[in-house]
Amino acid sequence: MADRGADELGVGDAVAARLWNGRWQLLSGLVAILLVYVFAGISAYVLLPALVLLLVAAMLPTGATRPARESAASLEAIGLQRLSGEYLAAAVADPLIIFDQAATIVHANAAAFAAFGGIAPGISLPLKFRAPEMQALLDSVLSGTVASDVVDYTEKLPVERAYRVSASSVGHGTELYVLVFKDQSEARRIDRMRADFIANASHELRTPLASIAGFIETLRGPARNDPAAREQFLQIMQNQTGRMARLIDDLLSLSRLEMKPYLKPGTEVDLRQTVDSVIDSLGPLARENNVAIERDFARGPLDVPGDRDELFQVFENLLENACKYGQSGGRVVVSIARGDDGSEPGIDVTITDFGPGIPEEHIPRITERFYRIDVETSRTQKGTGLGLSIVKHILTRHNARLSIKSEVGKGAAFSVHLPAH
Ligand SMILES: Nc1ncnc2c1ncn2[C@@H]1O[C@H](COP(=O)(O)OP(=O)(O)O)[C@@H](O)[C@H]1O
Ligand SMILES: [Mg+2]
Repeated sequence: MADRGADELGVGDAVAARLWNGRWQLLSGLVAILLVYVFAGISAYVLLPALVLLLVAAMLPTGATRPARESAASLEAIGLQRLSGEYLAAAVADPLIIFDQAATIVHANAAAFAAFGGIAPGISLPLKFRAPEMQALLDSVLSGTVASDVVDYTEKLPVERAYRVSASSVGHGTELYVLVFKDQSEARRIDRMRADFIANASHELRTPLASIAGFIETLRGPARNDPAAREQFLQIMQNQTGRMARLIDDLLSLSRLEMKPYLKPGTEVDLRQTVDSVIDSLGPLARENNVAIERDFARGPLDVPGDRDELFQVFENLLENACKYGQSGGRVVVSIARGDDGSEPGIDVTITDFGPGIPEEHIPRITERFYRIDVETSRTQKGTGLGLSIVKHILTRHNARLSIKSEVGKGAAFSVHLPAH
């Protein structure tokens, strides 16, 4: 019952739609008949059938969709006839090789020529790709047991690249097959980085945890009745929990930065005010380390587009490092200058210390996560090894650049170039 109701409704809808589509023709037909009726004086017996005929004609299916569909199909056929396999292969960005039943190369696209040396039409694939997994792949599609197959294949030279290779037959009765190489190297590199990062982070957390566990055992056993030792051990345990908390804070900072890849546009940061408050907040640390902080700010407004809290974190990390690792220099200079470095106008904030400096070979790696020149010094200075990687992350979001200059024994200068607009 319900079904029939739905059907009827469907038919009714279709008729209404047809009438609506043909409303102008219907109207003009009606006007024409009425005009003839009024002026030519035809009888009502002719008028009524004429009106009925007009209505029936308006309700008949139009048939307009069918020719449209047919022409789309023929267009597709004409288009595909014009499309040669060569053009199609050239349009594919991944390396692609077409081969025949004898596993001889018939055609290779430009990406394949760029990726693999020594391929050309006529060359035998098993001779070119000698790895057992490639031989197995070719065998399985050529034997016709499967229409397509996939293997992981690593090209060792000139640089190591990992590919996921798929082989399949092309169409029916063409006796042609195609190999497509999907480059997986970048995905593998990211996987490896993630695994390294988790291993490093766990190691960094496990070290203080092991120390705390050891002290708890000692406090329960040999040091149970020694108040002086207890006090000392509790202090160490507190330092270790502080270290774990700092590490977790830094890890959360990094993950938060990764979660919001784009900066909110339209906000301006007053660098003079921001850097001033960073210097104020690090006053106690500077005094503790006997470091004097000097300001050298350019005159006039020093505004850049950006996120104030994030830029605060950048200068805080850099100034903290200068006070901690450049402590022996006794002073740190913070300068803000309008830098027109080449084509890009902007503002440079430079933090210079006069400590031991950074040996050249460490400079390119110093912003990597957990990279430290001397792990022990970093630990005693309450470092986590994540400070500069957070700095780099924030600067990338700001389209800004970090440059590091250092002369061993004379100090280091960390310069942030922020584009003005
Ligand atoms: N101004 C500096 N002078 C000398 N070495 C520095 C300076 N700034 C950073 N470093 C080195 O770079 C390493 C990484 O710095 P960072 O990422 O901030 O980690 P952390 O300070 O937590 O150890 C530090 O451990 C230190 O060895
Ligand atoms: Mg640091």
